[in-house]
Amino acid sequence: MIGVADEPCEATTYSTFPYPGGKGRKVQAILDVLPAHQTFIDAFGGSGSVIYRKEPSPTEIYNDRNTRLTAFFQTIGKEYEAVAKELAGIPYSRALYAQFADEYGTNREPTNPVIRAAREFFLRFASVDSGIEGGFKASATRNAAQSYSNGIRRLSDIQRRFSHVVIEEKDVLSLIDDYGETARDGDPERCFFFDPPYRGKDVYGVPFEWKSFIDAVRDLESYWILTCETLPSELEEYPRSERAIQRRVHTDSADRVEYIIRNFGDDVAGTFGGPNASLSDGFG
Ligand SMILES: C[S@@+](CC[C@H](N)C(=O)[O-])C[C@H]1O[C@@H](n2cnc3c(N)ncnc32)[C@H](O)[C@@H]1O
Repeated sequence: MIGVADEPCEATTYSTFPYPGGKGRKVQAILDVLPAHQTFIDAFGGSGSVIYRKEPSPTEIYNDRNTRLTAFFQTIGKEYEAVAKELAGIPYSRALYAQFADEYGTNREPTNPVIRAAREFFLRFASVDSGIEGGFKASATRNAAQSYSNGIRRLSDIQRRFSHVVIEEKDVLSLIDDYGETARDGDPERCFFFDPPYRGKDVYGVPFEWKSFIDAVRDLESYWILTCETLPSELEEYPRSERAIQRRVHTDSADRVEYIIRNFGDDVAGTFGGPNASLSDGFG
């Protein structure tokens, strides 16, 4: 199968691995509005591309309800060299893609965390939709194997960047309960980043309860930034910017807009600083 994903995230120097709805290159638009803060909470962490790209804050939390992803970051943290070694033995092959995708999540899949992390990484690169079962990604015009190989070389950056990050695997509502209590005078400022599943789609396998989520976000007193494609009427009153993005579904493409909504004004927006200066580059 040759095609381009519905929610493509190209793997570049700026991202960890391709992921459906992953921010990848788009992270800059988020960094541009980040307010100065002490604690950063990425509530729908996915590929972790936002934390990976941003300058570290004193406290950072990566959260995703998908335990395959949290297990990946834990394993990279503990044994990234073993994962890199495992990946060095996994060539960019259609047959391996078919085998790993077929075994994924079944009792035929190896339980060894290093092998699982390696397969997770490989499948994200090798799948058309950067999911698991989208079909093998290969094309005559783009060298997908090179992109995968470059990704493996970035594992040490990922390990380093996430070594001070708390990894949570909570449902977003319970995360907000735990980390969102009202900041008292003198408390460090917190900033939540919400990149929820796109409304009306069930890309991540579990239905998402938008109404309670939006209510919880509106109740938050700490800073928050939320990205979405459909502007919820309950959030119309907040400052926002719009970013044109291209949707590509296989060979069709269409323009669309993504909203970046925030609960703070222009005076605070963009006061955090730039991207993470410590990443390796030159092999994106
Ligand atoms: C649009 S993706 C986030 C992409 C991420 N910003 C990136 O750059 O890769 C949404 C993520 O939310 C996670 N998710 C879905 N429902 C959730 C919930 N109720 N609580 C926490 N995470 C959830 C999914 O597993 C998925 O990884």
